[in-house]
Amino acid sequence: MSGHLEIRGLQVRFGRATILQGIDLSVLGAPLSVVGRNGMGKTTMCSALMGMVSASGSAKLDGKEILGLGTGRVARSGIALVPQGRRMFPSLSVHEHLVLVAQKGNPAWTIDRVYETFPRLAERRRNGGDQLSGGEQQMLAISRALLMNPKLVIMDEPSEGLAPVIVDHLIEVLRNIATEGMGLLLIEQNLRVATSVSEQVAIMVTGKIAATLNSAELAADRDLQNRYLGVSHGH
Ligand SMILES: Nc1ncnc2c1ncn2[C@@H]1O[C@H](COP(=O)(O)OP(=O)(O)OP(=O)(O)O)[C@@H](O)[C@H]1O
Ligand SMILES: [Mg+2]
Repeated sequence: MSGHLEIRGLQVRFGRATILQGIDLSVLGAPLSVVGRNGMGKTTMCSALMGMVSASGSAKLDGKEILGLGTGRVARSGIALVPQGRRMFPSLSVHEHLVLVAQKGNPAWTIDRVYETFPRLAERRRNGGDQLSGGEQQMLAISRALLMNPKLVIMDEPSEGLAPVIVDHLIEVLRNIATEGMGLLLIEQNLRVATSVSEQVAIMVTGKIAATLNSAELAADRDLQNRYLGVSHGH
């Protein structure tokens, strides 16, 4: 098995503020979701893992330390990030975006496979990044990460702003990724997505993991949801 991520004591400070206060998480052969309200530190954790902000503690991919490597080497070691809020190049077409990251040889994820998985992107292959709907942009962002054929993919709120029918398709795609042995660390505020994709859900509260729960348990327990997530969840 590959794509194992073990995070221990991950800390990030911005000036005097300690934004991540010692995160411990493991992605070991099954997807893991991390949920939490706005401003709790989810994106900061993603940035720290990718080497985009400096952090202390440890994060190991298949036993090898990735903290301190820098973004390029983290990516080459086998981690891809789907950043929050997408960010496509307006002047590049869908197809050009994909060609930029597609790998040679015979990898698991090819442009053909992307078009089979997301028929809508095939239809829009000549359209520019600025002509895509939010859902199409998110599919493109996910496709770019998959084309890197990483050992582990980190997705930062992929369902944000998507229509419910698109969210259903996203859930299906994420479940398939998970069955193929690619590691998945899924950041979500949509509890339905988190609990449908992973069996375990970690809850981040002000830069700490407050609890790790079974998806079924969390999905069924309104009190738990209210305690950790407040009212803005699960749409
Ligand atoms: N570059 C920065 N400098 C200082 N503070 C920052 C910086 N980036 C984020 N923060 C602060 O760190 C905290 C965590 O922010 P972060 O973006 O990680 O939260 P989040 O859980 O991803 O929220 P959301 O769900 O809204 O995306 C917030 O209080 C934010 O204001
Ligand atoms: Mg965020």
